[in-house]
Amino acid sequence: MTAVAAALGSSPGPVSDPDVLVVGLGYVGLPLAAEAVRSGLAVTGYDISQQLVDGLMAGHSHISDVPSSEVTLMVGSGFRATTDEAAIGSPRVIVICVPTPLQPDYGPDLAAVRAASAMAARLLRSGVLVVLESTTYPGTTEDVVRPLLEAGSGLRAGQDFFLAFSPERIDPCNRDFGIRNTPKVVGGLTPACTDAAAVFYGKLCDQVVRAASAREAEMAKLLENTYRHVNIALVNEMAVFCHELGVDLWDAIRCAATKPFGFQAFYPGPGIGGHCIPIDPNYLSYKVRTLGYPFRFVELAQEINGRMPSYVVDRMAELLNRHAKPLNGARILLLGVTYKKDSPDMRESPAAAVVRKLRTRGALVSFHDPLAPQWSVDGIEVAREDDLQAGLSGADLVTLLQAHSAFDLPEIERLASVLFDTRGASSSGERL
Ligand SMILES: NC(=O)c1ccc[n+]([C@@H]2O[C@H](COP(=O)([O-])OP(=O)(O)OC[C@H]3O[C@@H](n4cnc5c(N)ncnc54)[C@H](O)[C@@H]3O)[C@@H](O)[C@H]2O)c1
Repeated sequence: MTAVAAALGSSPGPVSDPDVLVVGLGYVGLPLAAEAVRSGLAVTGYDISQQLVDGLMAGHSHISDVPSSEVTLMVGSGFRATTDEAAIGSPRVIVICVPTPLQPDYGPDLAAVRAASAMAARLLRSGVLVVLESTTYPGTTEDVVRPLLEAGSGLRAGQDFFLAFSPERIDPCNRDFGIRNTPKVVGGLTPACTDAAAVFYGKLCDQVVRAASAREAEMAKLLENTYRHVNIALVNEMAVFCHELGVDLWDAIRCAATKPFGFQAFYPGPGIGGHCIPIDPNYLSYKVRTLGYPFRFVELAQEINGRMPSYVVDRMAELLNRHAKPLNGARILLLGVTYKKDSPDMRESPAAAVVRKLRTRGALVSFHDPLAPQWSVDGIEVAREDDLQAGLSGADLVTLLQAHSAFDLPEIERLASVLFDTRGASSSGERL
């Protein structure tokens, strides 16, 4: 603890030596770098994308939560982004925020974590803190990152340098909670490693929560996302049978949510999206399978949530049928196609699966989304309806997939001849 505390508390070293090196400047790394700069630390960012680095140094942000004006201020305060390892200097803290995409066997692809760890090893010196923030299965920090750091540096984790895991809890587009006021979980290889990580994040976050070790910190992240995944699947499954039973599930959830304890509301929808919920629980299920048995909750949730786009298309066909129209040849307007309300992020959006199903059933699909200037599914562009009023009036069926705040729902309800509402946001549309 003392080394990192002293290093971060002391006056800055040579200009070329940053307090903090953030490796990977994406959705996780750039906001972290921004908060570290705001906290008065000297920050360098390393990324393998030259285009991204050039953009940042020119004051352009590629992440909606960090405006370009803030990147300009960061650069003005001394923040440097680089693709050149030799230009980094000797950081006191190295935070790894590189991607961990899903492999065909549903484990995380750790190639970027390995590459970043090997680079961190070359920059390591005594007293440095290394933190992994990339989401992965429990044991990665100790079993994958540690050996690479030790072999590449000749130093020992927990003895010569500090090593910890700290899960990222970024909620894109959340205006109320950011890095500063979201409690930060840290878990080190040893208690001293946890202390070192707590000292560092204590500068960036109002509250630091210490896990028993890196493994518990890794598991905390997967527990949070698995909890959401399973509970969304629960209401999605209920939505299917409530429709047949003639029960308004949205109203039932509204009533249940008035209970001041023991219940948290989750809502059905056209499927799950984004980088975390559809992907992270797989890492845990992958790890559990190495024990010889499945993680049944996750696999069931995957199956139920994965079926929702198909179910949504079936309901669209049923609704058209009620109006004596076939889905084949019907003009369908999809409203809101990003994975999250008010976010421009298209990653893993279930809207893509909806389009695939609609195409195979012969529907003529167009979309309107103020946050998506263009959209392709499987390399084929989906027609963008720029004129919302004309699109609403001309469609046989309008389906609300994402209820962005910018949508004027009463106007949409007035103009759409048939409205299917998968978000329970309208007052007169047919709800999922
Ligand atoms: N996006 C989120 O909301 C979120 C939330 C919590 C956790 N996470 C996790 O954080 C990690 C990073 O996710 P992200 O969304 O920031 O990814 P991202 O794709 O937005 O950014 C990752 C960046 O890392 C760079 N990169 C790849 N390999 C590199 C390497 N070897 N060295 C340096 N840079 C490298 C890429 O060029 C990219 O700019 C993932 O493990 C993810 O699961 C993401």
